[in-house]
This record gives sequence, structure tokens and C-alpha cells, in this order.
Amino acid sequence: MIPPLPHVAEMAAYALADLTAPEGKRLISLSQNEALRGPSPKAIAAMEAAARGGHLYPDPDWTALRETLAEVHNINANQILCGAGSLDLIGCIARAYLATGLAALAPAHAYPFFGSATRMTGARFDIALETDLHANVDALLAAVCPETRIVFLANPGNPTGTRLPRSEILRLRDGLRDDILFVLDEAYGEFADHLSEPMFDLVSRGDTVILRTFSKAYGLAGARLGWGVFPDAIAQNVRKLLNPNNVTKASQAAAQAAAEDQVWMRETCTQTATRRDAFAGRLRASGFSPIPSFTNFTLIPFASPEAAQSADAFLKSQGVFLRPQAGAGLPHCLRATIGVAADMDIAASLLETWAARRAAS
Ligand SMILES: Cc1ncc(COP(=O)(O)O)c(C=O)c1O
Repeated sequence: MIPPLPHVAEMAAYALADLTAPEGKRLISLSQNEALRGPSPKAIAAMEAAARGGHLYPDPDWTALRETLAEVHNINANQILCGAGSLDLIGCIARAYLATGLAALAPAHAYPFFGSATRMTGARFDIALETDLHANVDALLAAVCPETRIVFLANPGNPTGTRLPRSEILRLRDGLRDDILFVLDEAYGEFADHLSEPMFDLVSRGDTVILRTFSKAYGLAGARLGWGVFPDAIAQNVRKLLNPNNVTKASQAAAQAAAEDQVWMRETCTQTATRRDAFAGRLRASGFSPIPSFTNFTLIPFASPEAAQSADAFLKSQGVFLRPQAGAGLPHCLRATIGVAADMDIAASLLETWAARRAAS
């Protein structure tokens, strides 16, 4: 037997969504926070055109894409790094700043990959309690210890869907030591943009990274393209750990065209918010208490972990897959990604049927 490193042997594999539909049922996946519609037609055309150059390596510096992103967001193209999904960037950030003996910190119900990326380095993953499913800045600051090197915060959060205002984010950053890297993950930022001031200016402090992705509002989860704005010194080090040629030609072309088509992306966000609020409203009317969300999903708490498992099993038996949340410390919750209206109606009806049967039993 060839022994792996001890911290790798101890790790659990990352839990991906279970998507095996029962025989004869159409799979309705509301489990991976994918967009309710595809990418801009311009992105599809750009991807097809790029396929013709498929025998050539991609631009290792993502030049055209970075220039477009810089223009759209009024930021400096030189501070942008791109990854094969933001997962790629999160992993490289962790590897650049964490190791055995050090620690990363995040809110208790944070996106589980923050913990995975931390453990991959041998570092410890610490959590700070949340208040009403909102990250709590005071609790995070109190949980900082001498080993802490990174604080991860997704805003809005996944799976909670809640968000902190800019003032709280600034209070958190200001309260952290200067040698702690703050990673602000805005994977769902586009859905909340119309309510919030952009946060990219924080990068100029030199101690904060802001991450975004094309997987959600741009509908390009399959293209695997994440990006981030980094202070120069941090970018230089993270860059050393990224695989060269990490983003395919087709994905770079698709993302650039998608970023140029802000109208399509905004319309996706509007459609998502309409469906999300209709779905949550219907569930509330049926006695559920979905958490108000700033994202493309809704978190649904149940009376107990057993009730959540029972509802999940019933929906799965009908081909509808929500995402259980034990991995994020919320075993009594299911998370529903917002899909097309017909699928959301089916999901809501099944939840109502489940609740009625349970009340009757
Ligand atoms: C908070 C958060 N960060 C990052 C990611 C990963 O996104 P990507 O597809 O860009 O790797 C997700 C995906 O669900 C997410 O919810």
C-alpha cells in the first residue's frame, strides 16, 4: 500500500449532488445552483467559432477576457486572474497561504468547498457562529486566532442566500490582522448587484481578494470559468500555483462574449428573481418558511433533520432533486435552485403534497 499524506487520508471526498433519477421519471435537478437558462446566444456562437482553433493552446494570460472584464467593471485588467471555475482559484489561494499548523476561518454555514480547499493543504478549518443564517462579523473577529491566515466569506452566502451590507464587510476587513488574507467570494454577486455597491475597491488595500464566476448569472457552469481581482503581490503568488493554460479557448471566448452581453445576463437575473420570489411566496402560503434570498436558490428549513430527509426522499422518488445541507451544518434544510417556472411548480406541488401527507399521518 502506498500511503497518502496523512491529511489527505483523513479528508472526505467532496460531496457532489446525487442526480440518479428513479426509473421512468424525468430528472428535475434543482440541486447545483445552475442558471435557469443557457448563456447568451453570442457566447454560444463565440464558443463554436473558438472550437475551430481547437488544435492550438489557449491564451495563457486570458488577455481579451480580462480586458473585457476590466471595462465592464471599471477595474484594472492586470489585477485579474482566471481559473477553471472559481474553485480553481479558491484551491490555489489556499495552497499559496495555508499549510499544516495554519488555519482558515469562515462562517458556520459557509460554502463547503472553503473547508475542502483548506483541508487539502493540511491546515485547520475554523468556523464562527452565524446569527439567523447571516454571517456574524463579531463572531468571525472573535474566532480569529494566531494561526488564522485566510478568512473566507461568500456574499451572498451559499447555502443561506443571505448577504451582509458593505458596511459590515468593511468592519470585518478592518477588524482582521494585516497578515490575514480576506477572500470575498461573490459567486452570486450579479444577482445582488442592483442592491449593493460594488466591492472591487477593497482590493487596493492589498489584503483582500474578490472572486466572481461565469457559472451562475452568466449560465456558463459547464464552461468552468471563474475570475478574481487580486492585489498585485497576491496575484503573483497565486499565479505560480495555477496550471498553465488552465482555461480552454472555447471557455475564454464564451465568457468574453457573455460579459459583453450584459443585457442577457441581467435578464437571467430578473427572471430568476421573479421565479424565486414566486416559489418562496407559494411555499410561505403553504406553511414553509423559506429564507429570503439574494441568489438563484432558496434555502428551505424543516422542523427537523428527519423531516428534511423525508421531504428530500419523497421529492427524489418523483425525480425532483433539491440539495440536502448537512455538509454546511444545516441538516434540517434543503436548498432549491431556481429553475424554469414549470419545474418550480412541480417542486412546490410536491412539497405541498409531502406536508399534507405528513400532517395527516
Ligand atoms: C459560493 C460559491 N463559490 C464558488 C462556487 C464555485 O463556482 P465555480 O463554478 O466558478 O467553480 C460556488 C458554486 O456553487 C459557490 O456557491
